[in-house]
Amino acid sequence: IETIVQADAEQASRTVAQLIADQIGRKGDSVLGLATGGTPVQAYRQLIEMNRRGEVDFSAVTSFNLDEYIGLDGAHPQSFRAFMNEHLFDHVNIDRARTFVPDGCADDVAAHCAKYESMIDAAGGIDLQLLGLGHNGHIAFNEPGSPRDSRTRQVDLTPQTIQQNARFFDSIDEVPCHAITMGIATILAARRIVMLATGKGKAEAVARMLQGPIGEDHPASLLRRHDHVTVVLDNAAAGALH
Ligand code: F6R
Repeated sequence: IETIVQADAEQASRTVAQLIADQIGRKGDSVLGLATGGTPVQAYRQLIEMNRRGEVDFSAVTSFNLDEYIGLDGAHPQSFRAFMNEHLFDHVNIDRARTFVPDGCADDVAAHCAKYESMIDAAGGIDLQLLGLGHNGHIAFNEPGSPRDSRTRQVDLTPQTIQQNARFFDSIDEVPCHAITMGIATILAARRIVMLATGKGKAEAVARMLQGPIGEDHPASLLRRHDHVTVVLDNAAAGALH
């Protein structure tokens, strides 16, 4: 694992935006795996500015998001589809028909998950997967205990994750308890993985990911089994490393 530590979240986000832009520069029709949450917002803002300046061209890019809440359709303001439209897709020259987010309202969730996997395959696999890090070590919505051979599927969110995500909703009762998520094996199949983690609150999870035992009880630690992972941190998130 390559680790890059920047002074603050702004610098770390710039680094991540540049890694994504470089990927698209090398291969215009790259397949990106994208994340939601608070962490990537600044990196997406950087990419929007780079796109405006003509420094990155999304016109041939395909994207697959990591996850979506069960029960929220794409029009729901707290859905991850709406998040992606608001924070990236509405502001860059990406072809909306080539942006994929799991459908939280699919009638047959298992069939939808299998189809999502086959669509990733049909697109040629993910070239660069962007990840955030959960306080409990989750990646996407693969909570502790998720099998390393897991694929896209329906999962239950832990009470801790529901509480963390309540900040995006009017009340905690509105946070869905279930989600569709790419699995650990889906994520590890990406050719390159870039993780962004910022802030003191992530320091313990970062230290366990990079220096603790490798195992399913800390899903992010399984990234150490992949040979092309770049972890981009700010000083605060790197604070518990020894
Ligand atoms: C988002 C996702 C989650 C987040 C993680 C960190 O698509 O899959 O795993 O990356 O919960 O969230 P933030 O960035 O809000 O701290």
